[in-house]
Amino acid sequence: MILYFTGTGNSYYAAKRISEEINEELVSISLLMEKNEVAIELQEGESLGFVFPVYYYGIPSIVKEFVEKLELKGYKNNYIFTVITCGGTIEGAGGQLKELLSGKGYTLDFLQPLLMPDNYVLMYNVPSKEKTEALLNKSEKQLKGIITSIKAKEKVILPLGLKGRLITKVAYYFYKNGRSTKKFYADDKCISCGNCQSLCPSKAIEIIDGKPSWVKSQCVQCLACIHRCPVEAIQYGGGTSARKRYVHPSLK
Ligand SMILES: Cc1cc2nc3c(=O)[nH]c(=O)nc-3n(C[C@H](O)[C@H](O)[C@H](O)COP(=O)(O)O)c2cc1C
Repeated sequence: MILYFTGTGNSYYAAKRISEEINEELVSISLLMEKNEVAIELQEGESLGFVFPVYYYGIPSIVKEFVEKLELKGYKNNYIFTVITCGGTIEGAGGQLKELLSGKGYTLDFLQPLLMPDNYVLMYNVPSKEKTEALLNKSEKQLKGIITSIKAKEKVILPLGLKGRLITKVAYYFYKNGRSTKKFYADDKCISCGNCQSLCPSKAIEIIDGKPSWVKSQCVQCLACIHRCPVEAIQYGGGTSARKRYVHPSLK
């Protein structure tokens, strides 16, 4: 089984490719969390994968909550792998997952980052069309190598140095205590389609008087609402209205 979380499709694409190649079922962590399904039955020899983006050099809050609740029924040292998509580096994010799993008696066997277009539009512009194409071509090659390793059940853990752990500890503090929804709003372009509401994994958006309202103080900050709004109406503070949006071609 491949468990994935995605905001803008990078991780969905990687998870889908892996699931097709190793013939394992693809399952959304958001959907499992919605249904509070946190017990997974593993068959003997079945591989289990986690594919998700890095946030603040750590793991998305929804993935963390899911793994904290996770129960692997029938686990007999099954091969567990993770591929963490990123726009730059993952630092200690893999270490976070490894520790969470080992605290529950499960061993992470394979951990690799996958460089893909950066979607952190709250601070930066997304890569240009040309750069995005080049990045996706490069990541496809990297993904092929990762799939070969996973098929062979290779045990490869990216070195988890002290520097990476420290960077994650500091950056993740801001994620844990931040991810405020206060600065989100819909501008005049909003067509009241409700897409943002149905996409939000935090269930933080409700349509009130025909416009999205952020009804929870924190969200996962996946930015699906911003990037996947069909008319680019969702904004965050003053920076996003001048920036472009990014959605992986697999979701278009
Ligand atoms: C809230 C947030 C924080 C992010 N932090 C990092 C980071 O620390 N390092 C990094 O390389 N990329 C970071 N990114 C970029 C994403 O990890 C990257 O674009 C990822 O592939 C997006 O995956 P998705 O399309 O499956 O949502 C961040 C993106 C978001 C939305």
